[in-house]
Amino acid sequence: MSATDAYRSAESKWSPGSATSPRKLATSIQNLEKHYVLKSETVKALRGVSFDVPEGDYVAIMGPSGSGKSTLLNMLGCLDKPTRGSLLLGDDDIARMSDDQLADIRSRRIGFVFQSYNLIQQLSVVENIQVPLYYQGVIGAEETARSIELAQRVGLGDRLDHRPTQLSGGQQQRVAIARSLMNDPYFILADEPTGNLDSVTTEEILTIFDDLNAEGRTIILVTHEDDVAERAKRVVRLKDGKLHKDEPVDPAVREAAREAQRRNVQQILREGDR
Ligand SMILES: Nc1ncnc2c1ncn2[C@@H]1O[C@H](COP(=O)(O)OP(=O)(O)OP(=O)(O)O)[C@@H](O)[C@H]1O
Ligand SMILES: [Mg+2]
Repeated sequence: MSATDAYRSAESKWSPGSATSPRKLATSIQNLEKHYVLKSETVKALRGVSFDVPEGDYVAIMGPSGSGKSTLLNMLGCLDKPTRGSLLLGDDDIARMSDDQLADIRSRRIGFVFQSYNLIQQLSVVENIQVPLYYQGVIGAEETARSIELAQRVGLGDRLDHRPTQLSGGQQQRVAIARSLMNDPYFILADEPTGNLDSVTTEEILTIFDDLNAEGRTIILVTHEDDVAERAKRVVRLKDGKLHKDEPVDPAVREAAREAQRRNVQQILREGDR
């Protein structure tokens, strides 16, 4: 049984109904290879990776430095094309797309959250959330209402006109999450989204991801932290550009990780009060 099959059968035990009605795939990755050709050598960053991500999944990608995590995320985000193999988004294979088509999909259907937030300093919270729409050139009353709604959704309803420098790190990351939702993305891609945050703020951001996933959003995140990965539904491990392990997170472990982090935050807040 392949790792993906193992995942499917484990998953179907947990979600009644999915065995009879297979879920749609957010993406399907088949024998994905990425080679970087340099002057003196060719770096094989991905050497034949295959796995599916059903809609509504929450995947943590882990692995040592240099194992190919960011390379994989770049292709999921349509920032780069595979050397070989396929990566399907709906019925479209990004390997067959032109650079213009990739740019179009990237701006319309992918939500990005980065470790360093990547907000535009001159723009307000609401304007930053609207950035994905700039490529489409239409920001009317409806779009403005939606961006305000998204700001409220991530708890920034009272910070609409603030600039990034007037926000904390956690608040900036919330703006990035709201921005990632602006275009109703296929999935949210997050590269070390809590890497720059303290544990209280990490907990806040992971709770937002939990809620979004509970609403049906597909999330794919890269992390080095076990306690962040345990909040996902599944951990995909890369090693030397290959898929090393693909395992579901036991729901009891997920719940325990959530509870431990909640307690940790309460403890820190109590100590802060003293
Ligand atoms: N643009 C590039 N040109 C050449 N080689 C690259 C390029 N990007 C990545 N690589 C190489 O591909 C391999 C995988 O890199 P990647 O950035 O995907 O690793 P990673 O798992 O994200 O590591 P980290 O945890 O350090 O972020 C590495 O050996 C890296 O040096
Ligand atoms: Mg990386």
